[in-house]
Amino acid sequence: MNKCLLVFYSGTNNTTYITNKLKTRLENEGYEVETYRINPIKFEKLDFSQYDLVGIGHPIYGFNLPGIVHKFFKKQTFIKDQRYFIYKNSGETYGANDASSLALRRLIKRRKGNLTNEYHFIMPYNIHFRFDENLVKEMLGIDELLMDILVKEIKDNIPNVKKYKFVNRLINHPMRLTYIGGNINVLFYKVDKKRCINCGLCIQKCQMNNIYRDKRGKIKFHSRCLMCMNCTLNCPKDAIKMGLFNSWRVNKPYNFKEIEKIELKEPIITENTKGFFKCYIKTYEQIKTRHKELFGE
Ligand SMILES: Cc1cc2nc3c(=O)[nH]c(=O)nc-3n(C[C@H](O)[C@H](O)[C@H](O)COP(=O)(O)O)c2cc1C
Repeated sequence: MNKCLLVFYSGTNNTTYITNKLKTRLENEGYEVETYRINPIKFEKLDFSQYDLVGIGHPIYGFNLPGIVHKFFKKQTFIKDQRYFIYKNSGETYGANDASSLALRRLIKRRKGNLTNEYHFIMPYNIHFRFDENLVKEMLGIDELLMDILVKEIKDNIPNVKKYKFVNRLINHPMRLTYIGGNINVLFYKVDKKRCINCGLCIQKCQMNNIYRDKRGKIKFHSRCLMCMNCTLNCPKDAIKMGLFNSWRVNKPYNFKEIEKIELKEPIITENTKGFFKCYIKTYEQIKTRHKELFGE
């Protein structure tokens, strides 16, 4: 039996959603799959040598790998010639996001691992603005097609790693500022006293233990923030003001179980789609075309 490890970081559980789906898909194909969620405050050393295949999952932050993921993998020992694949996800698919796994790719290469496949899933934004749930439903359907492709290519040893365009690699570097951006932005975090009901959910949700109650019971922030958005997304009263990025605050988590039940009457993204979501036309097309090549109609 082929043993596979899916190691992932997730801020607000979009990557967790993809990971769980992927686990089931790979198990259906006879893989024995374990998952490991990176704990940002307690890095463990993993033993990759136990596995035939290691998948690495991450969301895209500022056209990049989240800094915490880079740090975590720097501490790991990659096994020479072992097979690795990347499954990343983000809210939009403009070219600048393509090179987001650059630092990870370089690390795997330097440590002599064999990166054979890389896939970019589409998931709704947890920052900037909340996606319409009908659109999310449609995106999840496209992600299912991409999962078919991933599983087939992995199983049949079909490599799929595209070269990053020079311009996207260039954009990638300055955007690494997001590695420390959270620690700066959190200095400006505040809780709206009129809205806050002191339920403590933000404290529970923070993976960095960055939120606490002071002596007077008020919600306060330390300065180690990943900007994962768990606190703002989950606050039942939308009471967290997220500093310089407050206007990009998204409140109310996506309930994927409920979204999966939506029945779409007509396509959301069409060839006439204009504006921000135009990038999906090409993404849908590329995924559908590859799916047809591998599976027919
Ligand atoms: C700090 C931050 C930066 C982000 N930057 C990008 C980006 O550059 N491009 C993009 O398409 N999505 C971006 N996103 C959206 C996330 O990639 C997307 O919502 C992802 O599915 C979140 O996954 P998670 O829930 O596993 O953390 C960003 C989100 C955060 C919190």
